[in-house]
Amino acid sequence: MYNSKITGLGFYVPDNIVTNDDLSKIMDTSDEWIQERTGIKERRWIKEGSNETSATMGAKAAETAIERAGLTTDDIDFIIFATLSPDYYFPGCGVQIQDMLGMKTVGALDVRNQCSGFVYAMSAADQFIKTGMYKNILVIGSEYHSNGLDKTTRGRGVSVIFGDGAGACVLSRTEDNNKGILSSHLHSEGRFADKLIVESPSIKHWVPEILNAEEEDVSYFPYMDGTFVFKNAVVRFSEVIMEALATNKMSPEDIDLFIPHQANLRIAQFIQQKFKLRNDQVYNNIMSYGNTTAASIVIALTEAWEKGKVKENDIVLLAAFGSGFTWGSLLMRW
Ligand code: UT7
Repeated sequence: MYNSKITGLGFYVPDNIVTNDDLSKIMDTSDEWIQERTGIKERRWIKEGSNETSATMGAKAAETAIERAGLTTDDIDFIIFATLSPDYYFPGCGVQIQDMLGMKTVGALDVRNQCSGFVYAMSAADQFIKTGMYKNILVIGSEYHSNGLDKTTRGRGVSVIFGDGAGACVLSRTEDNNKGILSSHLHSEGRFADKLIVESPSIKHWVPEILNAEEEDVSYFPYMDGTFVFKNAVVRFSEVIMEALATNKMSPEDIDLFIPHQANLRIAQFIQQKFKLRNDQVYNNIMSYGNTTAASIVIALTEAWEKGKVKENDIVLLAAFGSGFTWGSLLMRW
């Protein structure tokens, strides 16, 4: 069996910075409320009228990751694209990447696991590499949230949190069994699907229902029972981190870098305290980008790597929780 390790990372965010003060001009909110509850100072939102989408942002992040891996698109054997905000209802964004990057007719798989999407995608990629089926897999997480948010006071509990952006990595075969992904752990609990959901449009709610939707129909916007999600997040994050550490016979002191899904800085801080992690063991950037769902971990990992915070042999832990509910963790040696 082979191991898989990250050989290239990249991220792309739109230029348009939206501060908390900008939001307070279009809805009843404040910089103070948003920072106190979430830690977010600003996020990127694709400008209205721009041609950017989840696929185009993903393609840009992917180009950087492939170049940094020292590869060309011809070396990529498979694409996995995680998003909850695909350009089309179908087909998925993965096939758009195959086309946009002018790649061979390699397989393309889309992952629909929201905030846990990147961890799920990496875990799937790892299995393809471990079995020897593929050598280099392009894994992308990308989200275009801003066009789908309720940007009125009615939607403020959700819309202030989410940001647009993309991250990508190349996962490659290594014959060094001490390097790369050591284990991944995936979970779901579908009975809470309605706690964090966009219900429509769906085949269940289609034309003409969409055309006849009333102003007060909020099923077309993301709904979140924030407090319930928060409480479940801290429990599941903790469990799945313990699972990763126990599987690898490690303790929190062994972690060199922990990158939690950037859902809320308060969740990340709770986990940090619970596991008694020092500041230098944890990387957060939700302050600058908000919650970019499937893109958040890979954007943060790329930024941390660019800042020299990930070194050879470091133990890196990723963990996520979100809509589904789904959650997961992944432990690797760099
Ligand atoms: O990434 C996927 C997973 N997602 C998460 O993990 C998110 C988990 N949840 C959270 O991060 C938090 O629940 C939120 C940040 C979303 C909300 O924080 P909260 O402390 O749970 O606030 P709340 O929803 O209980 O609302 C408290 C008050 C309410 O007013 P009243 O009823 O107390 O008068 C809200 O209407 O804050 C009000 N509120 C706001 N006020 C100003 C809600 N959103 C806003 C806002 N600005 N943007």
